Amino acid sequence: MISVRDLNVRFGPSVAVSNVSFDVATGESFGLVGESGSGKSTILRTMMGLNTDWSGTISIDGLDTSTTHRRDLARRVQMVFQDPYASLHPRYAIGQAIAEPLHINGVANAERRTVELLELIGLGDKFRFRFPHELSGGQRQRVAIARALALEPKILLLDEPTSALDVSIQAEILNLLNQLRSEAWTDLCHCQP
Ligand SMILES: Nc1ncnc2c1ncn2[C@@H]1O[C@H](COP(=O)(O)OP(=O)(O)O)[C@@H](O)[C@H]1O
Ligand SMILES: [Mg+2]
Repeated sequence: MISVRDLNVRFGPSVAVSNVSFDVATGESFGLVGESGSGKSTILRTMMGLNTDWSGTISIDGLDTSTTHRRDLARRVQMVFQDPYASLHPRYAIGQAIAEPLHINGVANAERRTVELLELIGLGDKFRFRFPHELSGGQRQRVAIARALALEPKILLLDEPTSALDVSIQAEILNLLNQLRSEAWTDLCHCQP
């Protein structure tokens, strides 16, 4: 599902990622571990097309990311960033934030789908009209996860999704991710002949 080969990423004269290769199979959970500043976020951001100065090959679901249109990748891979406060637009109500990728990609019934996504992350319809500053950190990260799941991507890249949250909330988010993953895996198994 993911194949990264000989990835090198530079920021001006400095090398942030040097010769990284790894593969992730369908249905697999893969953890990228390394000390702070070792390049984990840079690898994920490069996979999402958010860095320009890189070499090597990144293939996602068989597609070469350097020659595939952003829109085609958006349905395959989405990312949840470390800090949900920074990744949600402060003037977008939660419902708008979740519906935005649906609108951009011309998905029908965006409103119904938004309500379904709010249910899925355990927040419910009433959160649709609230703004990010009216939510707790854990609730905001749930919204970021719902937004990332809106287009039903095959791959979810999670960049330390709990590290900006209180310890008491971290388990809540990890439980949600485990639950989503087992549901997705069940769906996947049903699809096989
Ligand atoms: N936008 C950027 N401009 C310049 N240097 C950056 C940028 N983003 C990350 N870096 C540098 O790249 C290296 C890897 O950073 P990062 O990928 O954030 O590490 P990690 O996520 O493992 O903590 C660090 O040395 C960091 O300072
Ligand atoms: Mg990081």
